[in-house]
Amino acid sequence: MCGIVGYTGNHEAAPILLEGLKKLEYRGYDSAGIAVMNGNAISLNKVSGRISNLCEKTDDGKATPGHAGIGHTRWATHGAPTVVNAHPHMSNDGKFAIVHNGIIENYLLLRDELQQKGYHFNSQTDTEVVVHLIDMYYNGNLKDTVIKVASILQGSYALGVVCADDPETVVAAKKSSPLLIGVGNGENYFASDVTALVPYTRDIIYLDDGEFAEITREKVVVFDSTGKDISKEINHVNWDIQAAEKGGYEHFMLKEIMEQPNAVNATMTTRLKDGDIVWDDPGLDALDLSSFNKIVITACGSAYYAGCAGRYAFEQLCRIPVQVELASELRYNDPIIDEHTLLIVLSQSGETADTIAAMRECMSRGASALSIVNVVGSTIAKIADYTIYTWAGPEIAVATTKGYTTQLTVLYLLALWMGKKLGKLDDERFNLLLESLKTLPDSIQEALDMNPMIPELAKKYHQAKAVFFIGRNTDYAVALEGALKMKEISYIHAESYAAGELKHGTIALIDDHQPVVALCCNAGLQEKTISNIVEVKARGAEVLAVTCKGSEEIVSVADDIIYVPQTETVFSAAAEIIPLQLLAYYVAKENGCDIDKPKNLAKSVTVE
Ligand code: M6R
Repeated sequence: MCGIVGYTGNHEAAPILLEGLKKLEYRGYDSAGIAVMNGNAISLNKVSGRISNLCEKTDDGKATPGHAGIGHTRWATHGAPTVVNAHPHMSNDGKFAIVHNGIIENYLLLRDELQQKGYHFNSQTDTEVVVHLIDMYYNGNLKDTVIKVASILQGSYALGVVCADDPETVVAAKKSSPLLIGVGNGENYFASDVTALVPYTRDIIYLDDGEFAEITREKVVVFDSTGKDISKEINHVNWDIQAAEKGGYEHFMLKEIMEQPNAVNATMTTRLKDGDIVWDDPGLDALDLSSFNKIVITACGSAYYAGCAGRYAFEQLCRIPVQVELASELRYNDPIIDEHTLLIVLSQSGETADTIAAMRECMSRGASALSIVNVVGSTIAKIADYTIYTWAGPEIAVATTKGYTTQLTVLYLLALWMGKKLGKLDDERFNLLLESLKTLPDSIQEALDMNPMIPELAKKYHQAKAVFFIGRNTDYAVALEGALKMKEISYIHAESYAAGELKHGTIALIDDHQPVVALCCNAGLQEKTISNIVEVKARGAEVLAVTCKGSEEIVSVADDIIYVPQTETVFSAAAEIIPLQLLAYYVAKENGCDIDKPKNLAKSVTVE
């Protein structure tokens, strides 16, 4: 939620800040602003709406001269997405400006105290207390003042601060929100995400919680809460700049859908060696699997649905009980978890606040945490006992696609590896399943290639008031994710139901022309799902079936068919989701929706 960026150096700051904000816009996009040091004054520009409005207001930064500054793109939490609530926020005398990503939990108390001392508040945000505290405690040394103020704040923050007294210095602070420093030559940067930095530098310092940085054009000094310098490693990032560009596609989402065969391949191949699964991820090979009596998978949104699909693989291949829990619920459930629990945490961003909280709660009860994360160096990856990265590359569209399928890939690899290690799979079955898993990138490519009619189907369904997704077992897991894709980008009400549950209530909603997407790829349960298709057809539903080549029976009952390649049932979700991603995409496109940045959402949900 929210993206922040900072710059100090030889170049004009505003265009660099604006370019950085464009890269971070996926994190929040309801208002934006920049503050640029101009001599000993701070010039502030804020807008509601998109970064493009800010570019227009500042003539692409040309109207705002200066060589250091900070910027922010917002996803509103405290206060409406208005210009006054947009960041940066300034002190009453205009001497300090700050940007903030996170939530200040004790802001009400602090605001009361500051108001009693005569500070005037312009906004409804939690953030504004921080700038007034800085003003109140300022002793001529910005670094010391930020340390002092951070000690008063409760909650989470990535902060960028500038002071008119020192026009070339930017101070940053981090606690529970992402913050990276970009190290350049005669210029230095900070940002919430590496995508904003790679156009300028690939030398990155990942700040840890409780760390601060004093950034000038010549150097970056990282220090702790006592003010003591800390020596930090500079990581060289290999990310291809083009990976964070649209590359000729109309939307990031479509580009990312098309990237899935490669992303899944990259995630899998480094872990396949000599006919076996060998982790190149630290510590994993030494994991004592016999000490666990259950697996708990936790995550939010699509990552949770990947966990729902992965559960079948663990249960079938490892014969170990699996619970899949929404992180936002698990954190408050007083969970029955101990040192015999293997906790698997899924997160594309590695920064989802509820997932982090659930993880901490379970770890405090003794669970071993294994995270499956896409963003290197993210909070979840750092907290976990073990981390397996999904090598999907940057995912920019708010709706996840390659994040989800690469998470599935790691879950499948893990289940297969554990099944063998636990002695639940003999060599023959293991080899057979591994061979099948290796075909996943090809199956996904096939699923992409074999459905050129999806844009046409979207024309048929785009005016639906609601779409139901039904399926059983692994198909049900796919229905959950398919429905989420449809609702989040097309704004059409979409619900998923376990097909066998229809007659327990939901079938009452079915009447003439009600679209029902029936997932029917689980060979063992196909007959059962076909019965459910017949039941909804009898009540007037329009059925779009998703099934594998060769299941002719469905042809006679469904109105439309989407085929996907036949895969091993436990691994079927990865190819089966592809047409549903495309359907949601083309329906949203028909409806003129803002596909990469759906309303009210943000890519990285770093608030509860
Ligand atoms: O970064 P994470 O994987 O932890 O994010 C979890 C969810 O917020 C995310 O999957 C969300 O549901 C997506 N927008 C769905 O497309």
